[in-house]
Amino acid sequence: MKVEKPRGTRDFAPDEMWARTLVERKMSCAIENYGYRRVSVPTFERSELFRLKSGEEIAQHMYVFEDKGGRELCLRPEATASVCRMFAEELRAYQKPVKVYYSGPMFRYEEPQKGRYREFWQIGVELIGPSGPESDAEVIEVAARSLKSMGLKFELEVGHLGILRGLMQDLKVKEEVQDDVISAIDRGQKDKAEKLVKDKVFFDLVELKGDKKIIKKAEKILKDYENASKALGEFKGILSYLDALEVDYSINLGIARGLEYYTGMVFEIRVEGLGAQNQICGGGRYDNLVELFSGLSVPAVGFAFGFDRVVEAVKEQGIEIPKKKIDLVVAPVSDEVREEAMKIASRFRGNCSVEVDLMNRKLGKILEYASRINARYTIIVGPKELEKGLVVLRDMKSGTQKEIGLNEIERIF
Ligand code: HAM
Repeated sequence: MKVEKPRGTRDFAPDEMWARTLVERKMSCAIENYGYRRVSVPTFERSELFRLKSGEEIAQHMYVFEDKGGRELCLRPEATASVCRMFAEELRAYQKPVKVYYSGPMFRYEEPQKGRYREFWQIGVELIGPSGPESDAEVIEVAARSLKSMGLKFELEVGHLGILRGLMQDLKVKEEVQDDVISAIDRGQKDKAEKLVKDKVFFDLVELKGDKKIIKKAEKILKDYENASKALGEFKGILSYLDALEVDYSINLGIARGLEYYTGMVFEIRVEGLGAQNQICGGGRYDNLVELFSGLSVPAVGFAFGFDRVVEAVKEQGIEIPKKKIDLVVAPVSDEVREEAMKIASRFRGNCSVEVDLMNRKLGKILEYASRINARYTIIVGPKELEKGLVVLRDMKSGTQKEIGLNEIERIF
């Protein structure tokens, strides 16, 4: 009976998994250098966790099921809400700022295509506690630095939902309509947004894109709007820090993001060559989400990489990922030394990666196998040499070999 994997899921064979592991390690290391510590949250949660504030877009695409106790659960579509729940249950006692990151699979019932899966991985970063512009800037810098640590070229756009929401407040657009406007802009449904907000000034603002010069234009557009101008002032503060940190960015005041919980700065990162699904990172400030779960008014800001797309981009941009190497292969030349070969392999495994022939191959075939798996050295174990306490060490790169004592090998590894 042939059973296929579910649509939108993937298997990762060892070579692919090795590449993913290396990219994940590099990015995690860059994130940890900013003081973030890894956490893990459940892969399934109560559905209401995401229904409360993640927005229509997320709610529509959730994998929802009822467990045997009749509870409505879902596979997590993202992890920011989970981290906020975790903060309410556990992390509130921690020293602030609370700096955490996670790496793992998320699930969205979307139409699969290149770069869009139903099971996909995110590496996400959440900074809980600070509200100042320097924290927004630092979070953006973490994202940029982690991608740079991989040697990736990318484009980063920053916007500010506080400006859009502030302007809607100034224009007396009702709070409950504001989310629909933001969602329509995110989906590119300008007609729908225009039905909800009648004032042209709002769309003049949404269309502002470019370098820092557009700030002057925004100031002009917003001069009579108090809440929006205040948010623009905050945005300028964030941009100054980004300039000081030498983070390259462009401004796009039309960034709306698909999730409802954002309140201030928002940003997105794209790369070339991935086709339609070229957004590899998205994030922003969400100052009301922690309060929803904990009752404590605690500001927060964060982002998540679409890890699968990052790995794709690494390949697409021709960035070399070193192949997995085995340090040693131990090759018994005959059955009488097989036990000894097993013992030798075992002896070196404390310090390095070692394989021993388990297929009963002839020496020539073991050497072929060793070069195929990129082994650095092969230890050839023969009865005559063993009697003298020696083995043959073959350098798999140069093909040279010499007799050598096992203690001496120990000094090499
Ligand atoms: P998001 O924009 O929904 O934000 O997802 C972040 C990234 O995950 C996207 O930029 C994209 O690269 C990747 N992604 C999303 N859906 C898929 C999919 N179906 N297949 C492959 N990759 C996908 C969030 O999830 C927020 N929790 C980010 C955040 C953290 N904001 C604040 N903190």
